[in-house]
Amino acid sequence: MKIIHTIADIRDFVRQARGKSLTVGLVPTMGYLHVGHLELMRRAANICDTVIASVFVNPTQFGPGEDLDRYPRDLERDARLAEGAGVDAIFNPSVEEMYPAGYCTYVDLERITEKLCGLSRPGHFRGVATVVTKLFNIVKPDCAFFGQKDAQQALVIKRMVDDLNLDLEIIVIPTVREADGLAMSSRNIYLDPEQRRAALVLYRGLLKGQEEFRKGERDPAQICRRVTEMIQAEPLAKIDYVEIYSHPDLVTVERIQGPALLALAVKIGSTRLIDNILLGV
Ligand code: PAF
Repeated sequence: MKIIHTIADIRDFVRQARGKSLTVGLVPTMGYLHVGHLELMRRAANICDTVIASVFVNPTQFGPGEDLDRYPRDLERDARLAEGAGVDAIFNPSVEEMYPAGYCTYVDLERITEKLCGLSRPGHFRGVATVVTKLFNIVKPDCAFFGQKDAQQALVIKRMVDDLNLDLEIIVIPTVREADGLAMSSRNIYLDPEQRRAALVLYRGLLKGQEEFRKGERDPAQICRRVTEMIQAEPLAKIDYVEIYSHPDLVTVERIQGPALLALAVKIGSTRLIDNILLGV
């Protein structure tokens, strides 16, 4: 497996693959890989002949006071894990390579980014959409792989691909969870043992919402209320949002009549965790 740091070299790598008529899959990541990332890579390796994983902690998607500086980084470990998952090349550009001096172009989506994490993290999706567009333009993959754990991100990227007529397929892979239900996330590393225990309340909250839905509740406010009560019972948890929207449009609904996304963001200590579940699918 190759580790490539420059845009020129990754383009050369892709050109060689294309020369052999190989299909190319891209798994964009910010590194510090976990089993969820590896699942994306394995799926990519099943579907595409050549798999590139990008490892880039993208500064434009972090707001002031967020964890950009302390975001975990370990390229050697990532390379070992990615190779085991069938990746052919890691693209690990520097910030200067991606955002050279004078950089001033961004990709902005309306409406779909104006709720959930888009409200709590202003500018976050602008940074995500920008870097993902750049990665798509650099690698020109046939398929790109994202996790359902970041449900809004996956919907934003799909929307962007449709709206801008980008010529690739977006494949979304179900959330991978620890045995006790905690969704895999690079940020789980921030949790001390007590917080790790408390973080289980996210999944318990989602299961509560699912149970209410299965019992026949179709009022989103009522389901969110029950989920909120459950999470508030955990002293270490501080809710950012608990919300339900239609899926995939992310539109407010009075009653759940089709597929819906129950999404939540909760702070455990200073660590902000997100998780979600689909209802009615
Ligand atoms: O999900 C992530 O890790 C990031 O938001 C992404 C898609 C790699 C863009 O930086």
